[in-house]
Amino acid sequence: MTLRPRPWLDALEPYVPGQAAPLVEGSMASNESPLPVDPALLEAIQQAARTIRRYPDPLADEVRRELALLHGLSPDQILVGNGSDELIYLLGWAYLAGGGSVVCADPAYRMNTVISTIVNAHIIQVPLHDWHHDLAAMAQVEADIAFVVNPHNPTGTLHSRKALVRFVESSPAKLVVVDEAYIDFCDDPEGTTAVGLTGSGRVAVLRTFSKAHGLAGLRIGYLLASPEIIRTLRTIRPPFSVSSLAQAAAVASLRDRARFDEMRGYVRAHRAALSELLAAHGFSVVPSQSNFVLAEVPAADRLIEHLRLNGVAVRSGASLGVPGTVRVSVPSQAGLELITAALTTWDARTPATSDPA
Ligand SMILES: Cc1ncc(COP(=O)(O)O)c(C=O)c1O
Repeated sequence: MTLRPRPWLDALEPYVPGQAAPLVEGSMASNESPLPVDPALLEAIQQAARTIRRYPDPLADEVRRELALLHGLSPDQILVGNGSDELIYLLGWAYLAGGGSVVCADPAYRMNTVISTIVNAHIIQVPLHDWHHDLAAMAQVEADIAFVVNPHNPTGTLHSRKALVRFVESSPAKLVVVDEAYIDFCDDPEGTTAVGLTGSGRVAVLRTFSKAHGLAGLRIGYLLASPEIIRTLRTIRPPFSVSSLAQAAAVASLRDRARFDEMRGYVRAHRAALSELLAAHGFSVVPSQSNFVLAEVPAADRLIEHLRLNGVAVRSGASLGVPGTVRVSVPSQAGLELITAALTTWDARTPATSDPA
């Protein structure tokens, strides 16, 4: 007898990552940092490399100590994971497997629906309203977990803390998971974050070092939640999923506030320039509070091909559940010049150079 995967897994396709461009500056498909790696971070990673014959600290105590100071929480409210994606999986395994239910936006951040499908949970997706989560409609849905991505990916739109509080109070969901992967790029992260709501035990917040800390390749993120939730996830997690190099880089990054602020300022300034550039070409730009911009474009596939031929990789909105759009990550200054040049030769009426006649 052949062993077959569980039949509900037939609904899943393998993940297709955003494409890279020939020059790193042209890569605008995966919402990565536009700045080069800081030498001080490289040094911290090199130091940590001396210890790689030993297992890493399973609980990432030093990282949690820094995070506890940063967020004014106790270390037992923090779990560090192999990217926030691992933490999304842990939440699914612990709270959704065996008949759980989820409410999330449509389109959702992909990992929310992937883990829910893996554990065969019941998924209710609520269409966006004016590019935002329709929190009022989501609050009508009974679910074990409500996923809210704030700012959302792929739209870059943000809900205020007031709107989140109203949602948490009115939603019947047993746990509201607020994914704040991009919160550092919004106008007022302190005034918007849901971290202050985690004490109730009904809210958990996801953060990552992949975006504003520029450590996507090292895979490290964290969850802020009640000590009960953290304890539960600790019992099911693989103990050594976060490498010693990732832990060392995260600590060094958390201690360098000036570099973090520089990254934040850089992305916000270049986001404005990118949005203006796209609008100047007649595209309708969704106002973004993130490190990417979603734009409605005619002939999206041909625009993507035209940009690719000119050294710029962007993400097709169709692959993210928003057809007729492209998602462009905020680039470096050199990247901005590349895409500016590429767009000067774009004409929606003419085929891309490589199109068959
Ligand atoms: C909304 C959202 N959450 C989580 C992640 C994953 O972050 P990590 O690299 O920490 O796994 C991403 C990555 O793009 C994201 O867009």
